[in-house]
Amino acid sequence: MPQNNIQISEQQEYTELLKSIILSRKRGAVPLAYTHTYGCQGNVADGERINGMLSEIGFGFAERPEDADLILYNTCAVREHAEDRVFGNVGALKNLKRRFPSTIIVLCGCMMQQEHVAARIQKSFPFVNLVFGTHALPRFPELLFKVITGGRRVFEIADSEGAITEGLPIHRDGEFKAWVPIMYGCNNFCTYCIVPHVRGRERSREPQIILDEIQGLVSAGYKDITLLGQNVNSYGKTLAEPLSFAELLRQIALIEGDFWIRFMTSHPKDCNQELLEVMASSTKIAKHLHLPFQSGSNKILTAMNRKYTIEHYLELAAKAKELMPELCITSDIIVGFPNEERADFLQTLEVLRRVEFASLFTFIFSPRKGTPAAEMEDSLPHEEKAKWFAELLKAQEEYSAKVTNRLLGKELKVLVDSQSESGILKGRTEGNIIIELEGDASLIGSFVKVEVTQAKTWVIKGEIL
Ligand code: SAH
Ligand code: SF4
Ligand code: F3S
Repeated sequence: MPQNNIQISEQQEYTELLKSIILSRKRGAVPLAYTHTYGCQGNVADGERINGMLSEIGFGFAERPEDADLILYNTCAVREHAEDRVFGNVGALKNLKRRFPSTIIVLCGCMMQQEHVAARIQKSFPFVNLVFGTHALPRFPELLFKVITGGRRVFEIADSEGAITEGLPIHRDGEFKAWVPIMYGCNNFCTYCIVPHVRGRERSREPQIILDEIQGLVSAGYKDITLLGQNVNSYGKTLAEPLSFAELLRQIALIEGDFWIRFMTSHPKDCNQELLEVMASSTKIAKHLHLPFQSGSNKILTAMNRKYTIEHYLELAAKAKELMPELCITSDIIVGFPNEERADFLQTLEVLRRVEFASLFTFIFSPRKGTPAAEMEDSLPHEEKAKWFAELLKAQEEYSAKVTNRLLGKELKVLVDSQSESGILKGRTEGNIIIELEGDASLIGSFVKVEVTQAKTWVIKGEIL
């Protein structure tokens, strides 16, 4: 896979040029940027690279858009609701731009990779200065330079084969939790999904680059590291020397230090015994598996192009629990896919009962322009879908409570991650369940041993031992 190092040095030249330019344009004492990322963790990881580039150019970060010289929204296109929020928030910037005409407004990310969206921005939001899609991200300094010096709006949404640009600066949001993309794009083309259309084809980062990045994070004190990809189990196929995801994970777990490694998302068609065995073999690999099944009905799974049967899924989940009795499984579900009938939905509920997920991400089907499912006939009224959706949430409460109740009296390792306003410490278990604790704020960012003393549906309470 080509590594665009030449491109990086070119971008560094633009970064240097921008340093003095932005100093002459700032409103306050220092140039400030306000950035906001929507969507999945992969997009969050992109946002950390955007912030890295902004930081190198010399921007500090503002808490509110009205204080910023540059406002950037890194957008998501996965559901209509996500897009509506972006259009709403961008519309609201019109007045701000009137008050502070020198503010640079930037839109990027998945939503912008779609031509019809860029066209709408071009026409209806003339105060937006720069629009770029996911493929142009490494060229952000160059595009910003063009906007500022050219005095014209810039739109850069061309598709590309999808190389990987290594070596971008990263301004991480957290001090002990980190995201590490191991691959980009997706080849699966589930019929409802826009991701392959806006993120391009699947491509994997070189294992040594990933291992070095994680080694660096562990040395810097990071404790909870999540490997990211739309289908991590398919990692490595595009490498000159192919390597399986299970093998990558095995090598990561050999890095010395006290840390947890997580990964998402696993696709049931590619998740295999080898991976489950590696997971079971190391205490560094968190016993948490995010394994979306989307629907309990084979009729719907086929229409979704998911390429597995629900029997296969149930078998996989059972195998995983057999190997790791303490494993927490989470999942994604879509309710109201075209032609879904009550009987299909009841099969989805049955999967909840069988697997006992710790928690779920649930969505009502949202037609995405350009995907096959958006063209399928869909006669089920939205009110009916909303009813089933509520039913699903209600059903899950019982199973989540079962999972948390099973932890009562257990001794667990917990990563303390924050403190609420009332002074209660919050943390996460290996299974990613929220736990509340009494203790000192100095524990934030460290592992503690805890005894679980109370269990509610979504949260447990414990005492530090
Ligand atoms: N690569 C991951 C999913 C990424 S998108 C995987 O294959 O599991 C995250 C979730 O959003 C999906 O799992 C799906 O449940 C949901 N989703 C994606 N497209 C959607 C759509 N058009 N309508 C409703 N939900 C959708
Ligand atoms: Fe979308 Fe399917 Fe790819 Fe996941 S695997 S990103 S749901 S196309
Ligand atoms: Fe992620 Fe949304 Fe893009 S879910 S890959 S940010 S469409």
